[in-house]
Amino acid sequence: TKQKLWGGRFTGKTDPLMHAFNQSLKYDQRMAAVDIRGSIAYAKALTRVAILTPAEEERMVAGLAAVGKEWADGVFAPQEDDEDIHTANERRLSELIGPLGGKLHTGRSRNDQVATDVRLWLLDQVTATEDNLKALIRVLVERADNEKDYILPGYTHLQRGQPIRWAHLLLSYAFSFRSDLERLRQLVPRIAVLPLGSGALAGNPFGVDREFLARELGFHSVAENSLWGVADRDFIAEFLMWASLVMVHMSKMAEDLIIYSTAEFGFVSLSDAYSTGSSMMPQKKNPDSLELLRGKSGRLFGNMAGFMMTLKGLPSTYNKDLQEDKEPLFDTVDNLTACLSIAEGVIATLTVNGEKMRAALTMDVLATDLADYLVRKGIPFRETHHVSGRAVALAEARQCQINELTFADFKSLHAGFTEDIYAVFDFEASVERRQAIGGTSRAMVERQIAVLRAELLK
Ligand code: ARG
Repeated sequence: TKQKLWGGRFTGKTDPLMHAFNQSLKYDQRMAAVDIRGSIAYAKALTRVAILTPAEEERMVAGLAAVGKEWADGVFAPQEDDEDIHTANERRLSELIGPLGGKLHTGRSRNDQVATDVRLWLLDQVTATEDNLKALIRVLVERADNEKDYILPGYTHLQRGQPIRWAHLLLSYAFSFRSDLERLRQLVPRIAVLPLGSGALAGNPFGVDREFLARELGFHSVAENSLWGVADRDFIAEFLMWASLVMVHMSKMAEDLIIYSTAEFGFVSLSDAYSTGSSMMPQKKNPDSLELLRGKSGRLFGNMAGFMMTLKGLPSTYNKDLQEDKEPLFDTVDNLTACLSIAEGVIATLTVNGEKMRAALTMDVLATDLADYLVRKGIPFRETHHVSGRAVALAEARQCQINELTFADFKSLHAGFTEDIYAVFDFEASVERRQAIGGTSRAMVERQIAVLRAELLK
């Protein structure tokens, strides 16, 4: 007769709505493979403390592998009473190998089991996410390398500021993602802490070798406190925070490109592959890909904030609230993965309009260079800033660009001006003056490319 795994002390039946409410199998079945991995390691650990004989271990491991294969082949048949992936796998194992299956859970609880599974699952995702992040950085770097010649206005407050190389802007995104990559790697030692062997809360009474388990499963360390081991979900919170920050960077890049792809700017044009049309306005080509990248950032931040609220107020050790860790985590991983691939595709297929960029370069973006010209003649910057500002105002009054002011005009503004002043009004020369590390000159852009390429090889 069918019985819930924990059915011994129960006489009444679960309310059908409660049954569905409690059941997590529909989403936690994505941890099927790691659950099997964890159980195989645990079976081996049980043999080492003589709970299983080597022959039993062999049958148990073969049975677990068979259950894993059913999931992999898509033929695992869930039963009504499978509460979650852990109960489903154990139920199936016993169907395959008989009562011996009932020995697997000796000293183990779903509390240490689920915490172990999520960590294993996330470690696999971290590896995949690292690759996706690198792919995005790579396409930014490749574009930057190919498009070093384009110069456009750099903006602060969305007002034209100073000329920069387009490559420099692309690389600024790459550096945000590079710091995300670094932060992701730093999460790993805190994810790779083994809970298995913590039992339900108090520890394992059969002396299982947890360091053996950690080695078998690729964990870096062992949870030193069982109460903490079963309850800690900081690694999930941290991952969700990390992903939110990635999306902040993603959103900024998307917003820049949305603005730059308007007819008013026209610096870039999105490939048809990443745009959509309007159901009413035939002329429209909308940057939906970028808007979704921007929009998803809100969703991922929401997953993080929501999960923090789940954790807040919990008492110690395992509480069923913790089952609510999985959906935000899975949703964040899925959407982040999609965002990284879409962003990579958008960047790879973008068309750049160098002429539009050039046309947006009005002479006033060289006002800083004009001030710097006088600085090089020994005049204090605070004074030259003022002189340059007056040149801008004068040009505005004359309705001309600052390079169209006469030499007499410049002389009237400051005696330090000499005939070579007109050489300042050269965008290329302006960017090339930025030769200190981090600047927008060609050499410093090339330096950035080299730094990032070295990072991508790690
Ligand atoms: N499905 C549960 C979860 O995701 C597994 C742990 C259940 N433990 C328990 N004591 N009910 O958290």
